[in-house]
Amino acid sequence: KLDEFEELWVFGYGSLIYKVDFPYLDKSPAHIKGYERRMWQGSSDHRGTPSSPGRVATLTPSGNTLCFGMAYRVTPDVFEHLDHREKNGYLREEIDITLATGSTVRGLVYMATPDNEAFLGDASTEELARHIYESEGPSGENKDYVYDLAEALRKHGEHDEHIFAIEQALLEIEALK
Ligand code: BEZ
Repeated sequence: KLDEFEELWVFGYGSLIYKVDFPYLDKSPAHIKGYERRMWQGSSDHRGTPSSPGRVATLTPSGNTLCFGMAYRVTPDVFEHLDHREKNGYLREEIDITLATGSTVRGLVYMATPDNEAFLGDASTEELARHIYESEGPSGENKDYVYDLAEALRKHGEHDEHIFAIEQALLEIEALK
């Protein structure tokens, strides 16, 4: 079905904001409506292991709030790369993406819902931070995922309460070591 398109937009809200290992034709800061970023998805292949999964971002429905991310205009073959990179079974959803210019494009976003077998769901900020602090996988330490994401969001002038609270709790754990 992707082959029907010559080019497509993909919306990134997690590692796709700061780790771009694919070619793109265009990129733009962007928003989607009706979702919030949450560290609720388990990662057994990137920031954890099958016996001890880490936590990475997914999206959860949230009324009318806007979620910031980066949009990339790509050729369809890039999705083969991303499908492989995101092996934990994310769904690809079609969605309206509002670019920084104000124009809206149709695109795709990867998300994991509660029926994803790796989905972990909610926990307190302290529990999330402790779990993330202790996790590590082939892509590196789980805490660096949060630090890199928080840094990228700050760079774009974005305030994300959930991510920044976990970042703060991680720094507090580090300070006690
Ligand atoms: C993202 O950054 O948008 C993303 C990365 C991996 C899986 C799902 C989403």
